[in-house]
Amino acid sequence: MFHASIAPLLQPFCHWQDGAWRATTGLSFPVTNPADGSLLATVADQGGPEAEAAIARAHAALPAWQAKSAKERAALLRRWFELILEHQDALALLMTLEQGKPLAEARGEVAYGASYVEWFAEETKRLYGDIIPAASGDRRLLTIKQGIGVVAAITPWNFPNAMITRKVAPALGAGCCIVVKPSDETPLSALALVTLARQAGIPDDVFQMVTGQNAAAIGDLFCGDPRVRKLTFTGSTPVGKRLMAQSANTVKKMGLELGGNAPFIIFDDADLDMALKGLMLAKFRNAGQTCICANRILVQAGIYETVVERLVAAVAGLNVAPGTEAGATIGPLINDKAVAKVETLVADALAKGATLLAGGERHSAGELFFQPTVLANIQREMAIFDHEIFGPVAAVMRFESEAEAIALANDTPFGLAAYFYSQNMSRIWRVAERLEYGMVGINEGGISSEVAPFGGVKESGVGREGSKYGLEEFTEIKYLCLGGLG
Ligand code: SIN
Repeated sequence: MFHASIAPLLQPFCHWQDGAWRATTGLSFPVTNPADGSLLATVADQGGPEAEAAIARAHAALPAWQAKSAKERAALLRRWFELILEHQDALALLMTLEQGKPLAEARGEVAYGASYVEWFAEETKRLYGDIIPAASGDRRLLTIKQGIGVVAAITPWNFPNAMITRKVAPALGAGCCIVVKPSDETPLSALALVTLARQAGIPDDVFQMVTGQNAAAIGDLFCGDPRVRKLTFTGSTPVGKRLMAQSANTVKKMGLELGGNAPFIIFDDADLDMALKGLMLAKFRNAGQTCICANRILVQAGIYETVVERLVAAVAGLNVAPGTEAGATIGPLINDKAVAKVETLVADALAKGATLLAGGERHSAGELFFQPTVLANIQREMAIFDHEIFGPVAAVMRFESEAEAIALANDTPFGLAAYFYSQNMSRIWRVAERLEYGMVGINEGGISSEVAPFGGVKESGVGREGSKYGLEEFTEIKYLCLGGLG
């Protein structure tokens, strides 16, 4: 099944041999299925020299790409969008095999990824400038927005499709050329997107991929090269800080989507059906491996016991199984390091007095599977309060007052997403304005959308992706002062 449906997507980069896809040339590294450890493919192991060559090609391709009209670039993006949707099932299968998420979620991600391409195909045509009233009659002042130039992108494994499209589509739409280094855990979905972009007619050097295991060498090259005018990265805060420091010397524009530590607050006046539904989505999507997953579940004292009881019942309904199995809702985690981190956080919480109400250990479905877990009685001093869990563990904490909930929610260097549930309109405005986060879900656990700005404050990053702002991130404003008009 893998061989046949995936073939057209991988063939430009790999060939089928001895039960797996093999890189056509040079050194390669293995890509395995986290559900069972089996070898799926080997992919070209590129490094600094290949990244440098890709940047040189992108730089050379820039004038012709910038010379195209917005309408021409939009048409190419539109065709790419259509091809992604035409291949939704094959792309989803590829994603489930290399990343682990259940097929239904993978299909959803392909549609979500495609929505960014469609959105930016449309927005590209609306990259307006301004006419500014001048202070004297002999001048006319205006601004135009121009593509920033060559962009380098480093993308994560948790959304192997959408985190690429939401960087590549606005970059191309704005008239930039882009070189992407995808995660070495999930390069196949990335290569498949390149195949479809080529089929759509997007020129080879305008959108390139550098696959490799030596992320540091490729990252160093991206940061140090003065031809790269913007670096866009989704991943951990420590790596983001390093990339930002390394890019200082060439004063690049940065787009950083970094770690989160999302509070999910349920007030006494919440609609509990709605809150539980939102919580299950915000906590267990992608087995808890998203930057905006509910990390600290803060529940007001009056409803604490009820919420915990209902959460335990809902968690019992989750189905842990390989993502290709019908009905699977929780797949494997990405690698052993991820599982070990979850184990450490759970052990620390239990040692400091948390109560285990469900799960708590690896699941018998395979080495990288973890049982959906509920921990109650979480306290401030537990490591789980400060660290992104990135696994299927719901950590529940009790609070008494609104002020306490806001203080706990903001007590972190992170500021990506927050969620809260209340039916009181005054409280809704009060709390929404006081939460120090880039995104706030109010009576809603699923906030991601191509039309809305995704991004964080504090150490969760800089810049926004998606929405009208996402396109502007790939542009520079040029001010034109037309004088001597008499
Ligand atoms: C992420 O985890 O960074 C992406 C989540 C999303 O786009 O919904």
